[in-house]
Amino acid sequence: MATNTNDDTIITTGVQQINTNERNRPDETVVEASDLDVYYGHDRAIDDVSIEIPEKKVTAIIGPSGCGKSTFLRCINRMNDQIDVARVEGDLYFHGKNVYDDDVDPVALRRKIGMVFQKPNPFPKSIYDNVAYGLRVQGKDDEVDLDEAVERALRGAALWDEVNAKLDASGLDLSGGQQQRLCIARAIAPDPEVILMDEPASALDPIATSKIEDLIADLTQDYTVVIVTHNMQQAARLSDKTAVFLTGGELVEFDDTTKIFENPNDQRVEDYITGKFG
Ligand SMILES: Nc1ncnc2c1ncn2[C@@H]1O[C@H](COP(=O)(O)OP(=O)(O)OP(=O)(O)O)[C@@H](O)[C@H]1O
Ligand SMILES: [Mg+2]
Repeated sequence: MATNTNDDTIITTGVQQINTNERNRPDETVVEASDLDVYYGHDRAIDDVSIEIPEKKVTAIIGPSGCGKSTFLRCINRMNDQIDVARVEGDLYFHGKNVYDDDVDPVALRRKIGMVFQKPNPFPKSIYDNVAYGLRVQGKDDEVDLDEAVERALRGAALWDEVNAKLDASGLDLSGGQQQRLCIARAIAPDPEVILMDEPASALDPIATSKIEDLIADLTQDYTVVIVTHNMQQAARLSDKTAVFLTGGELVEFDDTTKIFENPNDQRVEDYITGKFG
């Protein structure tokens, strides 16, 4: 859907709703972490990370297994709330509003910052109901509006042509690549601003992967995408910005993707990218 307006980005509930457009950050930054730490019990998984993620661009997060990529991604829409032992310190802003403030409603936040996981996880429901799910949760039940929104999201996820004749079929009966595009349709249906993707193509074959990559490139017309990937070529092909995390949850370098891959400042980044470790 092409109607992302920053003017009504409301992520709080209750009487004192805060319009997140009342911000004092540069316009192009949509998500900002400042001195962010994440602990699981006593173990630190993210170490003092500060980063500004630009609007309507693809930002790739790369780094060796266990360096905190998924943990960082989950901070952005507070999915870590669901992990009992996880504790977040420092600040994480969405349009200048700290998402860990007491008045932020995580459910409203996740409507603005959707997520797609490594393994396609459609609900055991029809294709239509998968995509309509988030809208119905928001109380939208007008049949005509839902039909339109479902079609728009499926078109946005480059799946409409393959499924429009069988919207009542189960989402689980689609191929893996189609299931992942269904999950992307489900994520974009509530009209988020940011889509977080945690290795969205790593369970797919090369053809399905290339379809997802084409789709991600198209999504940046309307959305900000933050993607975790283990695939360097994919990061280089797809992203505008690349953040390199290394063991211990440290953000070692964040810059334009071409700079990171052609001329990184940090020797450890060069070693990682050239396959010396990781
Ligand atoms: N639910 C959890 N409980 C306790 N520790 C966790 C939990 N999730 C992650 N960790 C730990 O936090 C660290 C970072 O994990 P995370 O999953 O964020 O890494 P990652 O970079 O996404 O790795 P991978 O590339 O393998 O997916 C690891 O040491 C991991 O063991
Ligand atoms: Mg991970």
